[in-house]
Amino acid sequence: MARSLQETHMAGLPQPQVELIPGCPRHVAIIMDGNGRWATQRGRPRLYGHHAGARRVREIVESCPEFGVDYLTIFAFSTENWKRTQVEVAGLMNLFRRYIIKETRALVESGVRVRFIGDRLRLDKKLTAMMSDLEVATQQNSRVNLTIAINYGGRDEVARATRRLAQDVAEGKLSPDAVDEETLPRYLDTHVLPDPDLVIRTSGEARISNFLLWQSAYSEYEFIDTLWPDFTREEFQLLCESFGCRDRRYGGVKA
Ligand code: FPP
Repeated sequence: MARSLQETHMAGLPQPQVELIPGCPRHVAIIMDGNGRWATQRGRPRLYGHHAGARRVREIVESCPEFGVDYLTIFAFSTENWKRTQVEVAGLMNLFRRYIIKETRALVESGVRVRFIGDRLRLDKKLTAMMSDLEVATQQNSRVNLTIAINYGGRDEVARATRRLAQDVAEGKLSPDAVDEETLPRYLDTHVLPDPDLVIRTSGEARISNFLLWQSAYSEYEFIDTLWPDFTREEFQLLCESFGCRDRRYGGVKA
């Protein structure tokens, strides 16, 4: 049985024998939906589902390098999620802080590089300081790239990027003629990441909810019924395997 990344690195042992999935997506993005319903089905408060969802993240992150996924981007809190009750929002913010405290050591030691995307200005200063510290603590890692979207919205990201781009134009650093499909993404939060190859949404909803709007123009999508806290490494593996069979033409025709 494959050891966890943490065990492997901490023990300084050779990497477990892994067989990468042929044609595995290099970058997978996940809309982790269904925590609330999962909790309601068990007669528990919604936050119980979010805690179960947070525990699920580790298993999926750990499986990435074993399958051949180099980048995993997860949607943890959207710019629209502020509309939820104060109790749920505060509970989620507390969960993010707890996640960072609890997982930092394992993430550092298991070779995970963590980045955050989204607008940090509306977030609590203590949380943003912890996010920055985790980014710094893992910046030498390269085994797998985990990007966590918090207070992220695709439209908001494009608007913020455009504001910065317009500022550069106003200051004469960029010519308006130079603004094209190559230039604009350099201003996005995701500027160091490749576009997602596969976007997965759990819980049976078939919409993208403002996630990676620019970046997912040519992504493949999987909308699955499983609620996020029930999403397993095995199901993730099946989706990565099935991606390898897809015919991506990017608007062209088959050669
Ligand atoms: C959507 O489910 C989920 C969220 C808004 C929060 C996602 C957060 C986590 C999975 C846990 C925290 C993650 C990290 C990285 C610590 P929902 O509440 O909309 O579910 P519902 O549609 O069933 O109500």
